[in-house]
Parts: sequence; structure tokens; C-alpha cells
Amino acid sequence: MSFSNIIRHFRRRILQPRPLPLLSQVLSIQPSPLLTRSYVNSTSSLLPSSQLSLQLSPKQYITTFLVTGLLFGTSLMLYENSPNRRVNKAAQRGTLPELRISSDKYYPRPQVLEQLKKIFTPQKYSRPFYMIYGKDGIGKSTLIKMASREVGQGVIYVDIPLPLDNYCFVIELAKAMNINLSWLRNDDYKEQWKAVLSAFERAAKVYKAKYGRPLVIIYDNVDQFNTDILDILQSSVTESDNKGNYIAVFVCSEYSAVQRMNLRGHWADMDYFEIGDLTKEESMDYLNKKNIGEEEARKIYELVGGCILDLKKAARDLFSGRSFEDIKKTIEIEAEIKFLAAKLLPGDEYYEVWRNIIDVLLNSKELCASELWEIFNNSKRVDELLSKNVFEYHPKTHKITFKSKSIECYIRENANLFIK
Ligand SMILES: Nc1ncnc2c1ncn2[C@@H]1O[C@H](COP(=O)(O)OP(=O)(O)O)[C@@H](O)[C@H]1O
Ligand SMILES: [Mg+2]
Repeated sequence: MSFSNIIRHFRRRILQPRPLPLLSQVLSIQPSPLLTRSYVNSTSSLLPSSQLSLQLSPKQYITTFLVTGLLFGTSLMLYENSPNRRVNKAAQRGTLPELRISSDKYYPRPQVLEQLKKIFTPQKYSRPFYMIYGKDGIGKSTLIKMASREVGQGVIYVDIPLPLDNYCFVIELAKAMNINLSWLRNDDYKEQWKAVLSAFERAAKVYKAKYGRPLVIIYDNVDQFNTDILDILQSSVTESDNKGNYIAVFVCSEYSAVQRMNLRGHWADMDYFEIGDLTKEESMDYLNKKNIGEEEARKIYELVGGCILDLKKAARDLFSGRSFEDIKKTIEIEAEIKFLAAKLLPGDEYYEVWRNIIDVLLNSKELCASELWEIFNNSKRVDELLSKNVFEYHPKTHKITFKSKSIECYIRENANLFIK
């Protein structure tokens, strides 16, 4: 029987209203003598005697069974593929982002990993908004992915791609939520990602009701966001409808993103975690494990500091046959370019002021950010300078340090320019 025949038959038999046959008739059993005569009689008086015979042939039974099965299967499939169901599933098992580092290349940072796992297993009263920050290349994404894999359940990880636009964002967001893009019928990408965000908000409500704790969403690399997207995501997590249902973790490296979120968020909703450099011992140990001798490892650490990406690059350069002096020259040129871009060289407008600030930093290593605002009395100028890669702003402590050891080295190597 063809599919259209099955449907026609189904419509005729099942959908057309008709008096229901007695159960005994459908099952083709004779009325039991135990049944009272009056009951049998009263029913038979409702139906013509021709209908008292069996209504469906075995073939028709099979057809009905198949069609019912088909309908049931289709409904189940639609239900399983509905965005709500798919996001709920993603929330239950977590995104489990792929790690791009093999275990033999990974240098363990157990304390940072434990802290991150704690953030990713929030309790009922955790703050809804977390900012994880640290310089580019410090190892944020690696450690965050690792921690979110270890926690698994209830952690959604969204990798913000480069270059970022609304289209790329909706793809990554939908991927993290396990949502099929064909569900997003709207052509406007901004509307699409808002729809995905709404699906996530509903899933967070379901998750909270089920497990009694908030769901976690991590937006890695939010420096790439335009302020519009950042504002919407930040508002969503603190909206009264969503509050407590999920926590949002924003991962960033750049001062501009940190500042934007600080200005928009309420301090009572926010918490911070900084991923910093490896210590001197860790850096040396990392280099030693890469078969770099003690003396050379110490020189590299003194030049680049404990940023894992810088250590990794220096080790790779050494292995490719470059001399330490050659590597040092390249790093100094990079530092000089940063000073040029920040307009901190002799002849620049604020050169003298910066010489004072550099002096303080060389002696005490850090400076309270509010002192900078006092000195310049011009927040735009301070924002501009902190956005360059010479100084590092630490939001939790509101302190400023040199961005890296290589910047400090450049200053010491050019003492005549910077040191009074
Ligand atoms: N714990 C680690 N051990 C070894 N290599 C690491 C570690 N963390 C990061 N890296 C490497 O350092 C580089 C930068 O790491 P990444 O996590 O992307 O930093 P970020 O997200 O802070 O920019 C990558 O090449 C990564 O493989
Ligand atoms: Mg990263």
C-alpha cells in the first residue's frame, strides 16, 4: 500500500467521526455471559446489526498501527529537535569544548584550574556576572576549556570567533547551545542570536528548577564584541527574570572591554578572577621540561617573564637555531613599537608625566589607578593610554602595573630616556 493510500485510509478510518465500536467488537470477542443482558441490548440498539461484525481487517490493523507509529515517531522527532529540548540537553551535559593542546605539551596549573572549577560550579547565591581577565597568551582559553570539561554538566562554553560579526556569533552561540541553525528562520543575524539567547534563558530557568543551582555560560574573547552585543549579554544576566538562573562569565584581555563592563555593571553583581603569569619557578620548570638549560631558562625568564605564550615562543625560537641575543633584539623592537603607539617617547605631550609614573612603577611595581585619574584629570586620556599595550590594568584591585617583563626590560635598557 502506498503512503498516500495509508494516509487516505487513516483519514477515513480514524479521523472521520463515527460511533465508537464496543471494545468487545474491536477485539472480536463475544460478549461474555457475565455481562448483563440489558447492557448488551442497550448497546446493540445503538448500532445497526451490520456494524456488530468486525470493523477492521488484519491488513487495516497493520496500516493503522504503522500510521500511528509514524505519527508518534514524527512527533517525538520534532520534540527532540525543538530548540528548547536541545538547549536543555546541552545544559545537562555541558558543551565540553575541544582542547587544542596535547597532554604532553600541557603545563599543569592546578591552583588556577581549581579556582576556575569553583567558578563554574556556582551555588544558589553566587554573583551572576564573572569577569575573567588576563593578558593575551597567558593561557586563559586553555585553562577555561579544561576546567569547563572537567565540570561538564551545566557549563556552556561559547568561543567568540575572529573576526567577529553578528553572523559568526550566531553560529558559535547556536553551536554551543546545540541548536540547529535551520530553526532560526529570521534572516537578521542580530534577531537570530537574540532568539538563541532567549532559548538559553528558558533552559536556564528549567535547569535552576531541576538542580537548584545556576547554569553557567562562558563567553570567551569578549574583547571582540562590539559594545552593542556586550551590553545585551550583560543586561540579560542581571534582568530580574533571569537573575539567579544562570551566571555569565566574560573572558577578556583588553582594558576597553573591562572598562565597558565595569561601567555598565553594578559592583554587587560582579566578581573578578585574574589569570596571571607563571611564577619564576614555574617558568623555569616549564623551560627545563622543554630541555632548555638552567642558565638559558633564567635569561629567557628575565627577558619575557611568565607569560606562557612568550615562553613558548622564545623556546621555539631557540630550538630553531636563533641566538638569545637575536631573540632579545626582536623583543626590544616590539616593545619600542608599543611605546611609539602609546606616545610615551621624548617629545610626546605627556612624556614628563609618564616618566614620573614609570619611576613609581619601577620602584613599587604597582600604582593605584585612581592616582592616574588624579594626575591627568582627563579620563579619556587615561583610557586611551591604558588601552595601549604598555600598562596593565587589574580590575579587581584597581591597580596598574607594566604590561610585561619585556616592557620593563625595554625601559631599563633605555634608562637614559625613561629613568630620572
Ligand atoms: N598550561 C599550558 N601549558 C602549555 N601551553 C599552554 C598552557 N596554557 C596555554 N598554553 C599555550 O599558550 C598559548 C596561548 O594560550 P591561550 O589559552 O590561547 O591563551 P589566552 O586565551 O590567554 O590568549 C597557546 O598556544 C596554548 O597552547
Ligand atoms: Mg583566548
